[in-house]
Amino acid sequence: MTLTDMQTPFYRIKEADLLYDIDLLQTALSENWGSNTIMSYSVKTNALPWLLHYLKEKGFYAEVVSEMEYDLVRRLGFPGKHMIYNGPIKDKKTWEAVLLAGGLVNMDSTYELDWIKEISSLYPDRQFSVGLRVNCDIAVMCPQEELAEEDGGRFGYCYENGVLADAIKRLDVLPNVTIAGLHLHSSTKSRSVEVYGALAAMACRLAKEFSLSLSYVDMGGGYFGGRDDRPGYPQYMKEICRVLSSCFDREKTTLIVEPGVSLISRATTFETEILDVKQIRGITYLVTDGSRVNLNPQVTRHVYPHHIVYKQRIRREALPVQWVCGSTCMEYDRLFELTDAPALLPGDRIIYDTAGGYTICLTPLFIHYFPAVYIEKTDGEIFTAREPWGNDEYLQKYHW
Ligand SMILES: Cc1ncc(COP(=O)(O)O)c(C=O)c1O
Repeated sequence: MTLTDMQTPFYRIKEADLLYDIDLLQTALSENWGSNTIMSYSVKTNALPWLLHYLKEKGFYAEVVSEMEYDLVRRLGFPGKHMIYNGPIKDKKTWEAVLLAGGLVNMDSTYELDWIKEISSLYPDRQFSVGLRVNCDIAVMCPQEELAEEDGGRFGYCYENGVLADAIKRLDVLPNVTIAGLHLHSSTKSRSVEVYGALAAMACRLAKEFSLSLSYVDMGGGYFGGRDDRPGYPQYMKEICRVLSSCFDREKTTLIVEPGVSLISRATTFETEILDVKQIRGITYLVTDGSRVNLNPQVTRHVYPHHIVYKQRIRREALPVQWVCGSTCMEYDRLFELTDAPALLPGDRIIYDTAGGYTICLTPLFIHYFPAVYIEKTDGEIFTAREPWGNDEYLQKYHW
């Protein structure tokens, strides 16, 4: 079986490329910080069970942000102590389970300060270690940055207004609770190396200001990956470790990273086929069997890196405008415009590159159900990680 014969649309994960990025990250970490590091995969980015299991086998922890994700990774064999529980919406039972299992909990919310007080008095003989998600003003630290949100981030405890200091004070009075880590995940549009240097400097500043003896600094995710025109793990880790090494001991403080999209972008493509070619008032519309909803359901992207595989090698005239459109009946389901390009025909394939992050997991059940996911193993074998959904899957749990 080859993927050329498979019914489109489908996602393909190429194991060789995934291994390449895992190795790139591992090498960047060990060359810059030695062995005291943890790679924790951001489950929300793509919660494909095959992928989670694969990364577990490669030594990754699971970074989860919901009870559902926690349950999923637990079923897939991640031990509690290899989980990092993050996010603003925590489930109390899950929170306790991760903490009691020796996993990492990065606190983010006001209510978690009450929970930790409660659990510390419930188990006075146990020692609890927690992390704090830091919210700091990136716009001030890096004025040239393009931020994800104009007002700055909304997660974590705010440094500038003293909320972080208050949280630290509340934890300091609990005899069996230690502030073990700081969590600095932040989103910027530019994903620049400089912002990671500034965040690492913030970890140094906070450790000094609040006399924290940290067992870990968690730099989160948000890196570029799989793109030759952008920085990658070697550049990010070099900068992070350059800054962190000025104030932390590599032997004592673990460097944690939580990559999502950067780890799986290069390896994943979304493969579609042209079903129809239509002329409407001077424009050629190419109707394909994959949709914008399979790639970017939030409709925030305007660029869809891709390549084309022609079904037949024949002479093709160049057309001034061809619009590649998706498989839904929505007008906005248009992906990109080809200008002065060879005429495409039914059967030609449009293959979207770097399609792994926030695509498979965000695809809705809209008109068409979930497409298949195939793994192209290093030995050429094709493994079906998800069969395409039909009505058997759709109708489960419905009643009428
Ligand atoms: C806390 C945390 N860690 C890691 C990630 C992964 O980010 P990315 O997929 O950009 O690497 C996210 C994504 O939002 C996140 O919120």
